[in-house]
Amino acid sequence: MRKAHRPLERLLFRDPQVRDLVERMPEPAPLIGLGSLGKRISVDLDAESPHVLVSAGAGGGKSVILRTIAAQLIRNGARAFVLDYKRISHPWARGVPGVTYCRDIAEIHDALIELGMEGRRRTYLAEQLGEDADPAAVGRRLAILLEEVNATMKQLARYWEKTRQNRDPKISPAIDALAEILFMGRQVRLHVLLVAQSATARALGGPEMRENFATRVLARYSQNAWRMLAPEITPAPKSTTHVGRTQVVLGGTAHETQVLFMTHAEARAWAMRHRQRRPSDNGEDPTFRVRAPQGPGWSRGRHGPGSTHRNRTYPTRPSAPRRAVHRHRVQRRETPRRTGHRRPRCGTHPDSV
Ligand SMILES: Nc1ncnc2c1ncn2[C@@H]1O[C@H](COP(=O)(O)OP(=O)(O)O)[C@@H](O)[C@H]1O
Ligand SMILES: [Mg+2]
Repeated sequence: MRKAHRPLERLLFRDPQVRDLVERMPEPAPLIGLGSLGKRISVDLDAESPHVLVSAGAGGGKSVILRTIAAQLIRNGARAFVLDYKRISHPWARGVPGVTYCRDIAEIHDALIELGMEGRRRTYLAEQLGEDADPAAVGRRLAILLEEVNATMKQLARYWEKTRQNRDPKISPAIDALAEILFMGRQVRLHVLLVAQSATARALGGPEMRENFATRVLARYSQNAWRMLAPEITPAPKSTTHVGRTQVVLGGTAHETQVLFMTHAEARAWAMRHRQRRPSDNGEDPTFRVRAPQGPGWSRGRHGPGSTHRNRTYPTRPSAPRRAVHRHRVQRRETPRRTGHRRPRCGTHPDSV
């Protein structure tokens, strides 16, 4: 690859040199693209930033960025949950072992709640294991691809408004779970790759949310969007309509970057040939079978007695009633519909269960 002062015009995975480079990237640090002078721009999920925010106008390459990062993570042994309210953003991921594809809002709601529970379980486990433990001992790396967060949040709120019962909390527990996951430390190995419009900070519950994303990828942005998502960098670099050209903000510095382009077929093939996982990665695969509460101060619920909410720990009562949201979910699943139609569950490849 020629070392150009500016980023390359295109960075295509089908170029064998590019493919080699991707192959050589360390397990926790997928390649996002190349910057000026051929600098590798990657996100180290263990060291720098557990979550990634992607913001761009329509057709600005948001789904391509998620695809590029996720295909590399899956190949390296991660599980992925695609929360895709638009339903069609990631056809490459369908049926790939280790991928759960959630399309409708009820599925996304359930998935976020269960992922929040899994995160809490891992937080507790990480504490028990101590700092010297193998980081992989908490479980397999989980990537959560959240497309169009603004629209999805609105739908989640509406869904909860329609389905919640009197004693349920007002705020959607799925939205709450997402906020909670974003606050969890990197040691839980839950990574949110989130696609957002510029109003994200507000949609996610305030500007402090932005702080959970040390890595932010912006393309085709307005001045307003830049101020909202990367206020620490002024003046805003000039936006361009060049396809795949982004600004990757890493730890307070913006890098002009040409994003690695993988076609759907290439991403799928790359994710399918996943490398041998480490034995410790195999032991703790939640696959939506989150286990019963373990240990003091840990419970399935966030709101009810016994739940842990960020820094607060509510007292545990052994006879505490099950949390309303679970009662609700269990009832909804168990009640047969008159039409005989069963709500589809998130698509999970049989190999990953
Ligand atoms: N890094 C890239 N390199 C080359 N082409 C790209 C790149 N990113 C996006 N594209 C082109 O732009 C199109 C739209 O990208 P997409 O990720 O679907 O946009 P968005 O999700 O933001 O609407 C892609 O189908 C592809 O043709
Ligand atoms: Mg898209």
